[in-house]
Amino acid sequence: MAATTIPVLPLLLLFAAASASASASPYLSPTTLFQNYKNMLTNFKIFVYNPAKPFTFQNPVASLFYNSLLKSPFRTQDPNEAHLFFVPFSLDTSTRSLARLVRDLRVNHPYWNRTLGADHFFLSPAGIDYSADRNVLELKKNSVQISVFPVISGNFIPHKDITLPPLNPSASVISAAPDNASTTSFLGYFKWDGKTESNFVEELKKDGDFLVDIERDSLDQVRNVKTSKFCLLFYGGDVAWMVEAMALGCVPVVIVDRPIQDLPLMDVLRWSDLSLLVTAHGGAKRLKELLNGVRDEKYSGMRRMASAASKHLVWNEEPRPLDAFHMVIYQLWLRRHTIRYARRELV
Ligand SMILES: *[C@@H]1O[C@H](CO)[C@@H](O)[C@H](O)[C@H]1NC(C)=O
Ligand SMILES: *[C@@H]1O[C@H](CO)[C@@H](O)[C@H](O)[C@H]1NC(C)=O
Repeated sequence: MAATTIPVLPLLLLFAAASASASASPYLSPTTLFQNYKNMLTNFKIFVYNPAKPFTFQNPVASLFYNSLLKSPFRTQDPNEAHLFFVPFSLDTSTRSLARLVRDLRVNHPYWNRTLGADHFFLSPAGIDYSADRNVLELKKNSVQISVFPVISGNFIPHKDITLPPLNPSASVISAAPDNASTTSFLGYFKWDGKTESNFVEELKKDGDFLVDIERDSLDQVRNVKTSKFCLLFYGGDVAWMVEAMALGCVPVVIVDRPIQDLPLMDVLRWSDLSLLVTAHGGAKRLKELLNGVRDEKYSGMRRMASAASKHLVWNEEPRPLDAFHMVIYQLWLRRHTIRYARRELV
């Protein structure tokens, strides 16, 4: 029951800027977040259905979340006190087996019918697709899906679904503090895989304001990230180091050609104030104009908030207060209010 015994004061201190002015807060609801989180720690109950047979997730971050959930103090053996119900199924479950699984829940347990699955959630690293089958469609449309950021657009339903933050490459780097902002030497940093070619990458390479870095020595990389103002991430490319960049004080710039709503902790963090979303249209020149257009005062706020927010995106083998595991659980807690219909009796 470790999570329920955290003293209140350290918890308060862990919430960055919880007591500071709301405008500088990385959170969407700085005034209610703390109390709400505390309520979650004491009250939240999740019932886990038994899977047909034990299984593991191959995806590392899904596996970590699943195992942490099974061991967590939020789990209850009593479905009648549960706020939410977790439906575990392995990645290789066919649509037909998934349909049978949902039908069995519907027929054999009293909980599905009360909300038609709205107080149920499931874990699917890539998300599930729309289906012609009524059971799978109900799961898709009503239940909360947890998948791994980023998710292909059709597989994610905003306001309902949740993504897991990427697994961070190195926890020791995360604990490093950002350097003094005045030491920046690059406008934008781009961690290049050394393979993917595009006009955009070519333009970045030619422009001395951008550093296109190929993974060599991780210490060099840490220094380069620290001395860059912005870190460029291609949505759908390697985003795992986003959290590392934020922790090191590099403001994330997500390059994507459409609006996205599947950022991790989307309903907790004020992403619009601690990151930039830009399209690749216009190339490096337009990107440079945009980045140069961010005023110093605004930039230092973004940087501070990005660094504070990164603490909530860090995964631990053993979950710690306010880390990625707890914040994903918190997003589930925010989704617990569903209307339950009493079982209709024959008259
Ligand atoms: C839930 O509703 C369906 C009809 O949609 C019914 O067939 C099923 O028996 C109900 N489940 C329970 C447990 O009553
Ligand atoms: C940042 O560094 C500059 C010189 O490099 C120094 O003058 C300034 O006091 C430092 N600021 C902080 C907050 O450490």
